[in-house]
Parts: sequence; structure tokens; C-alpha cells
Amino acid sequence: MYYSDDVIEEVRSRNDIVDVISGYVRLQKKGASYFGLCPFHNEKSPSFSVSPSKQMYYCFGCGAGGNVFTFLMEYENYTFVEAVQALARRAGITLPEAEISPQQRQEASLRQQLLEINKLAAKYYYYQLIQPQGETARAYLEGRRLSHETIVKFGLGYSNKFSNDLYQYLHSKKYSDQLLRETGLVTMDEKRGAHDKFWNRVMFPIMDVNNRVIGFGGRVLGDGTPKYLNSPETKLFDKSRNLYGLNLARRSRRPNMIICEGYMDVISMHQAGFDNAVASLGTAFTSQQASLLKRYTSEVLLAYDSDGAGVKAALRAIPMLKEAGLKSRVIDMKPYKDPDEFIKNLGSEAFEERISNAKNSFMFEISVIEKNYDMNDPDGKTGFYNEAAQRLLEFSQELERKNYIEAIARTYGIAFDDLNRLVNRLGLKAGYGDENIYQKKNREAAHEKASNREDAAVTAQKLLLTWLSEDVRLFDKLSGVIGPEDFTDKLCHEAAAAVFNEYRQNGTVTPARIMNLFEDKQEHDAVARAFHTNIYDDGDMASREKALNETVRRIKMASLEQRSRSASDLKTLQEIIQQKNSLQKLHISL
Ligand code: CTP
Ligand code: MN
Repeated sequence: MYYSDDVIEEVRSRNDIVDVISGYVRLQKKGASYFGLCPFHNEKSPSFSVSPSKQMYYCFGCGAGGNVFTFLMEYENYTFVEAVQALARRAGITLPEAEISPQQRQEASLRQQLLEINKLAAKYYYYQLIQPQGETARAYLEGRRLSHETIVKFGLGYSNKFSNDLYQYLHSKKYSDQLLRETGLVTMDEKRGAHDKFWNRVMFPIMDVNNRVIGFGGRVLGDGTPKYLNSPETKLFDKSRNLYGLNLARRSRRPNMIICEGYMDVISMHQAGFDNAVASLGTAFTSQQASLLKRYTSEVLLAYDSDGAGVKAALRAIPMLKEAGLKSRVIDMKPYKDPDEFIKNLGSEAFEERISNAKNSFMFEISVIEKNYDMNDPDGKTGFYNEAAQRLLEFSQELERKNYIEAIARTYGIAFDDLNRLVNRLGLKAGYGDENIYQKKNREAAHEKASNREDAAVTAQKLLLTWLSEDVRLFDKLSGVIGPEDFTDKLCHEAAAAVFNEYRQNGTVTPARIMNLFEDKQEHDAVARAFHTNIYDDGDMASREKALNETVRRIKMASLEQRSRSASDLKTLQEIIQQKNSLQKLHISL
């Protein structure tokens, strides 16, 4: 982190979270909080809450939460430092400069200049397109049925037939050759001097999620090769971490994202109303792109080309999506090559139908496997069932596995019991160490039970954190009974330590400030959840008192149990037992 805690806290406290979020989400006041539709998942009724007193947000639907910094990091895809800078600017705070090293500043200003140049180039290409010299390119785009509105929305352009006019233009803007070379838009050559990378091509500016141009793709106006030419990787342009169209798709209200292969596919789909389409950038799909998508959706539809290469690409992408925690389904494009051609021929209604019929990705994988076997031959059939059964072992949860066994049995005309037996036998044989599949199942069930019990204790800790931050009088009432050391959950413990400490020093609790202690996104969600585990809103005094006492007892019990597990001498153990007994008599009155 480049800024001191005081600076960060100053920035945070001068940006009211309700004001900031109101710029993005329509909020309505309900009781002490504000509610709106969650920008991080698709929903019809508001479960996204913003608390002015806690200066935090939390979504009861998807669990996203944090303070004003987290919000910008999530929504704008900013790094923490970028979020601090944006909010400082918003509040008119001048950030101390010395805290950024000269090298960091140089890097930042290089990036800044590269962004500027890319933006200028995109404007230049657009201008070329709408001028008389853009006639053929305009005709080309028209032939591909793109409306003027679509052209503007995607900022399409044209690199004309002169071989160095873009260079001349940028040069006249006083950018150095060295800098221009770094954009990848210009190449320098001893003999011929500087010339443009792209000429006589339709230009597709590639933007990051914040609508900043980071590179370009250029397509020939007909059948020449290469069909597409792309900007090289630069300081700005990392092909494996960006997705074409994501700047628009992230604002889509559709419940999922569509991933396809081409620029034109993305554009066609958006034009036809599928504004959730994105594409990888002329390279294979990466796991970073899967994680990027995970920020915006929980389900991805694959709309890859229907040819062999497309199927292969889908088979590569599916495990990566799964790894990132995304569900995926595969859209069947046949008899057309890609989404662009499909929509041009059959229209958007037919495409919508293909979306709703999209195949579960596991079933898709199995259908590809089936093609390797001759199902009219008994050996072929046996081979297929064995391979399918082997794949079914991937599902370690029994219910899920059963459901898939059933689906495969139904689809491929084999009796459920037969396939089930085959799967279990393979599971036993595979052994999973010395454990057969049933022992494994039992172990998992036991594990689940244990973690449920643990959850109850953790929930209690979160509840108490919420109450402490809402009603500071509780600190005195609980003094001598419970302290930060009783919070056994690691995250709750850190939060509790901060809460008790702040109360001791200032007599207040500022949950949003405590968020600053945590850097990780998952931790922010968890801490926000901890401070929003509210239940006792409408209860009367007696039931609130009961809830408080039960909660305190549960936390203390878990804490004592933990201590007794690590106790080494008899005296300590006896002491713990005594404390446990006296816990029954505990009564805190409100
Ligand atoms: N691509 C590339 N370089 C090439 C060919 C393709 O970078 N020489 C990338 C582009 O991003 C392109 C995508 O791969 O959008 C898909 O290529 P392809 O299926 O060949 O093209 P289409 O998207 O169908 O292009 P069009 O419809 O314009 O023919
Ligand atoms: Mn195409």
C-alpha cells in the first residue's frame, strides 16, 4: 500500500457511501438503511443494502459487501490504490505525492500517455470511416448489416490506405517516436522510417472494463490475409486478462454472460439484443478471463464456432470455468458457423431459443465423447459407458452424481441401475486411496456436520459484532465476560480486536474503517457479512435479551472448548470446566 492508514481513513470518511453508491445504483430508504437492486448479481427485488451508520454495503442475495473502497474496486474494477485516488479526487482531497515512488509515478504516467494515444487513434480511425475515404469500409460494414448506432457504440473505424498517416497525425501531437513505438500502432524501420501497423482495414478498438481503449483489432475489407491483425501486447494490452465487449456486457441485465470467438460475433449479438456477449482476443480462453467473468456472473454460455476447432475450444474452456466457480452451458449453433451467421440467417428469436436449450456442459462433454465410439457395436457401447462412468466419478457429492447418472442413463438409453452399479464399481476400483466411494461419502457427511456446528459458532460471533457496532453500551455490559480473544474465527477475531480497540480509544465503532484492515475481496465480503448479520430488528426487549444471552453463551462455549483442547495442565482444565458451569448462570440484562 502506498498511502498511510490516516490518509486512507481520511478519504474514506469524506466520501459518504450512500452518496457514492447512489451514483451507480438507485437506492431507496427503508428504515435505517437504503436498498436497491444489486449491481453484482441479477435480481428483480432489492436485496442490496447500504448502511449510512456503518458506512458499508452488503447484498443479502449474493453476499457481496464492503466499504466505499470495495465498492469501487468491484464496480469499476479498480485496484485499491485506484479506488483511493478516485475517491480522493471526488472529495477534493490532494493525496500526498511523495508516497508514490518516482518509478511508480513514471510507470503511471507512461500508462496514462499510452491510453491517451490509443484514444486519439480510435477517434482518428472513426473520423476516417465517416469521411469520403471511408466509403469502401462503410460499405463493408453495411454489407455485414451493422447499423450506424452499432458502429458508434463499438467505436468502429477505418485505417486508410496511406501507410503512415496515423504516425504523422500522432507525431504532430508531439508524442515522441519512442512512446509511439510502445503503443504498437507504429513500427520504426531504418530504411523506410515510421509507418502504421494497420492500413486499409476496418478497426475494432478493444476496451477494458472501464471503457479505456487498450488495443485494436483490424479486419481486411474482403478476403485477404491475415483476416485479422491485432495490436501486440503492450504495457496496456494484456490479451489474457481482458475480454472484448466486457465494458458493455458488464452492464447487461441478462442473467449470464455469453462467450464467443470473434469481434463480429460479439457485435452481432449485441445488435440483436444479446448485450451480455464477450469474446477472447484472438487467443485461447484463459483462466484469468474466467476469474474476470466470475466478477460479473455465475453462469457462462459458450457460443463457440460449430466446427471442430470450436468444439475443442469449448472443451478447453469448460474446466477453466468450473475451476473459477462458474456454471457453464454450450449453445448449439448448427447448421451455422458462428453466432453472427446464425443471427443473420435465423434472427434473434431463434437464437434466444438456442440459449434456453443450451446444453449443460457436462452433458456436452459426454456427447463429444460418444462420437468417438461406434454405438452400433457392442464393444463400442461398452467402451462408451465405461468412459462415461469414469467421468461421472468427478462428482463427489452423491446427489449431484445421482442426478447426472440419471441424465446420462436417460439420454443414452441405459438402465439407471446398470450405470449406477458401473460407476460405483469403478469408484471402488479407483480406490481413492484406501477409501472406497462410500467411505468417502461418509467422511464427507461427517465433515459437513462438523462444519455446520462450526458455522453456528461463527454466526454467533458475527451477530455479536453487528450488535456491538450498533449499540456501544454493550461493551460495558460484556466487560469481563467476553473479549476479542473469545472470537475463535480468524476473521471475526481480527475484526473484534479492531472493534474493541477502537471503542477503548474513542468510545465509538466505525465498521467501515475496520474494512481498511482487510485487503482481500473475499475477506471484505466476509467482514461485511459479519457486520450485517442482523436479526433482532423487530424483536421486543425480552426476545432481544434472550438472543443476546444465547449468543454470548454460544461464543464463550466455543472459545472455552477451544481452550480446553489446547490446555496442557490439570489446573487449567479445571478452571475451564468451572467457567463452563458458571456460563449456565450468565445473565446480561439490556
Ligand atoms: N483472429 C485473429 N487473427 C486471425 C483470425 C482470427 O486474431 N488471423 C481472431 C479474431 O479475434 C476473430 C476471431 O479470432 O474475431 C475469430 O476468427 P474467425 O472465426 O476466423 O473470424 P470471424 O469472427 O468469423 O470473422 P468474420 O466474421 O469477420 O469473418
Ligand atoms: Mn464470422
